[in-house]
Formats: sequence, C-alpha cells, structure tokens
Amino acid sequence: MSRRRIIAGNWKMNKTPSEAVELVNTLKDLVKNDDVDVVYCVPAIDIVPVAEAIKGSNVQLGAENFYIEDKGAFTGEISAPMLKDAGVKYIIIGHSERRDIFGENDILINKKVKKAFASGLSPILCCGESLELREAGVYEEWIRRQIKWDLDGLTADQVSNLVIAYEPIWAIGTGKTATADQAQEVCKLIRDYIAELYDAATAEAVRIQYGGSMNAANAAELLSKPDIDGGLIGGASLKPDFGQIVNA
Ligand code: PGA
Repeated sequence: MSRRRIIAGNWKMNKTPSEAVELVNTLKDLVKNDDVDVVYCVPAIDIVPVAEAIKGSNVQLGAENFYIEDKGAFTGEISAPMLKDAGVKYIIIGHSERRDIFGENDILINKKVKKAFASGLSPILCCGESLELREAGVYEEWIRRQIKWDLDGLTADQVSNLVIAYEPIWAIGTGKTATADQAQEVCKLIRDYIAELYDAATAEAVRIQYGGSMNAANAAELLSKPDIDGGLIGGASLKPDFGQIVNA
C-alpha cells in the first residue's frame, strides 16, 4: 500500500488574521501539488479568514487545539462542532507545547483523539521525547508508552486514519534536526508498535510525520525514508520555504 504524503504547517501562536490572509496568498502558487495533502493548522482566530482565503486551492484547514465538550461553560475554549462548521478537517493533538506548557496529559489527549474521531475531525497526534530521555537511552520506552496511552480504546479503523507526528522535543524550534536515520528509526518503531497493538494492515495504513526544525534544506532527505510519510512544520511553515517542503 502506498501512503499519501501529508505536509502540515503548525503556525503556533503566530499571524494576526490579516497577516494570515497575506501568508496564504504568498504561499498560494508555491504549495500546489495534487499528490500531497497540504494542511495549514492555524490559530483559532485565523480559522475563518484562512478558510475563505484557501477556497478553490489544494490546501486543507487544520486547528491547533480544542476542548472535548461540544458546548457550555468552558470559558476560553473552542469545540469540535465549532471547528467542523468553520471548515476545519485536521486537528493537532498532544503537541509537546500543550503537554509541557499547558499541562495536558495522556488521559486528556486520549479523550481528545476519541472526540476528534467522533466529531469527524482527523487527528494529528504528536509524540516525542525530551533531550534528557534521549540521552538516558530510554526514548523507545517513552514513545511506546505515549502511543499506548494516547491510542487506548481506538479501533483499528480509526488508527488506520490517524496521522502521528514524531517530534523529538530537542529538535523543535532549535534548528537541531534529528538526522534522517534517527527520525526513521523512531517512525519505524511507532509503526512496528502499532502492528503489535493492532495488525499489519493498520500499521501499513497509519501515516507518520516527522517534526522538528524541518526545512527546505533537509526535507527531501527526511521524506525519502520509508516510514516517514510527511512533516509537521513550525517555523518554516511561515515562510516561502514551506512550498519547497511540499514539493520536496
Ligand atoms: P519547528 O516546529 O518546525 O519550528 O521545529 C515543529 C512543531 O513544533 O510542530
């Protein structure tokens, strides 16, 4: 089976609504590629103007966060039905910044993955180890533990439709990319573990991205690896470089 490549930009807390539209227009011709899923995951306030600005293009819309309830007294949160109604397809869940800065744990992340599927959103589930865990040589156990908790209770069919982003925390925003071999090693480990938890067909279907200082210069090598099906791009998604990554 051949998996369709997915290149997603994670804009994080960048771009006001008017800057967002300007960026979409700048990237418009650069990100054209019908063989790749191209996704912009944008701040909540940019969702509506970006949905309008990408109309008629190959770009799909993603969000960076949501809460697990549909509506009610949850000041400051946005819900899956709100995202769906605004045209969002993908949702980033479990990014290391949500885990580390906002205290999201694997129990909440697992609930968010389930809620996303129940609401018709496609999760991009992030996992990854800190530098400490890598240097201590325990990153493999750590990644397996995150995957086990975050996928708990999901069906094989759901996991087949999941995107998992392997993002070593030490490579995020640091300019220190994992080597293509390091990234491939962990992406393969994740796929093998899914084969163990589910079956070979599910492991073949799940799409696995690498994320962490991916840029125009290193994308082609990372994406040439057999278990790396795409990228989750932070800094470089805000620049014309993103077009080069899409077409790497
Ligand atoms: P980066 O961020 O590309 O700026 O390292 C990636 C991410 O955090 O998703």
